Parts: sequence; C-alpha cells; structure tokens
Amino acid sequence: MASLVLLGVLAAGLPPLLAAGQDDVDAALSLAEFLRSARTVISGNQARINDPGLGDKGLTGDAVVAAAIQNMITTTGVDPREVDPKSEKGRLLAAMALAVKEVMDANQPVINEKGEGFKGFVPAVFARLATEQFRRDQSGRAEIKVTAPPELVRNRKASPDAFETDVIRTKFQSPGWTRDAVYAATTTVDGRPATRVLVPEYYGADCLVCHGMPKGEIDITGYPKEGASLGDLGGVVSVTLFD
Ligand code: HEC
Repeated sequence: MASLVLLGVLAAGLPPLLAAGQDDVDAALSLAEFLRSARTVISGNQARINDPGLGDKGLTGDAVVAAAIQNMITTTGVDPREVDPKSEKGRLLAAMALAVKEVMDANQPVINEKGEGFKGFVPAVFARLATEQFRRDQSGRAEIKVTAPPELVRNRKASPDAFETDVIRTKFQSPGWTRDAVYAATTTVDGRPATRVLVPEYYGADCLVCHGMPKGEIDITGYPKEGASLGDLGGVVSVTLFD
C-alpha cells in the first residue's frame, strides 16, 4: 500500500532517523512488507472467505504465499524468492513465508466451512496468528508483531511494550512526524542487544467499517468501534531482530 512511499521516506530520511545498521533495517522492513503483502491477500479475499455458499476457498498455504509474493513484487519491486537465502533478509523472508503457510494450512477447516458466513478470519487475526507462528518458529532470534496505540488495542496480545508505546507517543503521534516515516533504533530487549524497526500504519476507508464511527457501536467482529477517522495512526508493524 504505502510501501514505496515508506521506502522512499526511509532512503531520504535515513541519517537523521536511524542509529541502527542499515542491513538490519532493510531486512526488518522486508519482513514487515512480506507480512503486509500476505495480509493484503486475506483482505482481498475477505468476501470470499465469508461466503456461506462456498466450501473450498482455494486459500491454501501455498496459494496465499504465492499471492503474497506477487503483492510484494507489485508494491516493492522485490521478489522475495530472489533474495539470497543465506542472508538475514532471505532467512527472515523464508521464515515469514513458512509461518504464513502454516497458519493458512492450519485454518483450512475454518475458512472452508460451508454454511457459515462471517468466520472471524479477518486480516488482523490472520496477521496476529502469522506473527505468533513466526515468533514460535524463530525461538528468540527475531520477532514481529502488529501493535497499535494503547487506546486502540483490541486484542491484549497486541499491546505495545514500553518501547513501542514511547515511539508511538513521541514519534508517530507527534504533529511533526512525517507520515509513513519509519522508526529504527538499536537498543536492548530483556537485556539482549536488538535492532527494532517500527512501521506506522494509518486507517483507510475500508478500516473504518470496524474501527471508525460511531464510537462504541459493535462491529461485525463483536468489538466496539474505536471512533477513528480516516488517516489516523491505526497500528504499527514492529520488528525486533536480536543480534
Ligand atoms: C472486519 C472488521 C475489521 C476491519 C475492516 C479492520 N479491522 Fe483491524 N481489527 C479487527 C479485529 C477484530 C482486530 C482484533 C484481532 C485480533 O484478535 O488479534 C483488529 C486488530 C487490529 C490491529 C491490531 C491491534 C489490536 O487492536 O489488536 C490493528 C493495528 C488494526 N486492526 C488495524 C486495522 C487497519 C489499519 C485496518 C484497515 C486496513 C483494519 N484494522 C481493518 C477488525 C477489523
């Protein structure tokens, strides 16, 4: 979606923004982009997933990974399959693709259930499951999550930690922050040196069906709407790479 802008901003804004190693930041951004590319496959197929008359949706793990790769090529020009698999970036992309595949394969019975309309398998749920799977697969080497400003968090598992909250408050929500600019820094997480890269995401019109107004009204997923407006900071893709 905004990835080209994002990468453009990154390139232009690199020296003032980043204290982190460029290779790590580049790998983290690719990882975030692949997750977003896969999530776009789920949004694009949401009506199909929720069609009660349809059984098999054809959204196998392999099919979703293939479509995510196409989305990533379209938005960034980068074909994840051509990234050196021995590089950190290649390793992370392969791991994310595997996590996406695992989540899709595990959820086939839910997605393919005939006679059931809304199944709760919305893009945010898919993204959370995929990031949780990635975290398990990586066992402490790298993490990715989709979080949000504390006042917007629906699922506690997505709550921002202290670092993320600080970046949201003092950077992404500050009036002077350049829209779409990412934040990256080297820091420690639980005493371990790590590179952290945070990518802001903003609500589009399609998000407001659930996250918009009127505030408090229950949306199709059963959560109260946040009362957000078009263009508000809605979330953050947060990547942590341990040294
Ligand atoms: C069909 C309703 C629906 C739509 C449309 C929707 N969301 Fe959500 N969103 C949810 C639900 C439900 C969750 C909680 C998912 C979970 O259980 O992890 C969520 C979670 C999130 C989260 C993770 C943090 C949290 O609150 O748990 C972010 C960020 C987010 N949404 C942003 C967006 C953006 C940006 C869009 C538009 C591109 C969007 N959402 C569209 C229903 C929706």
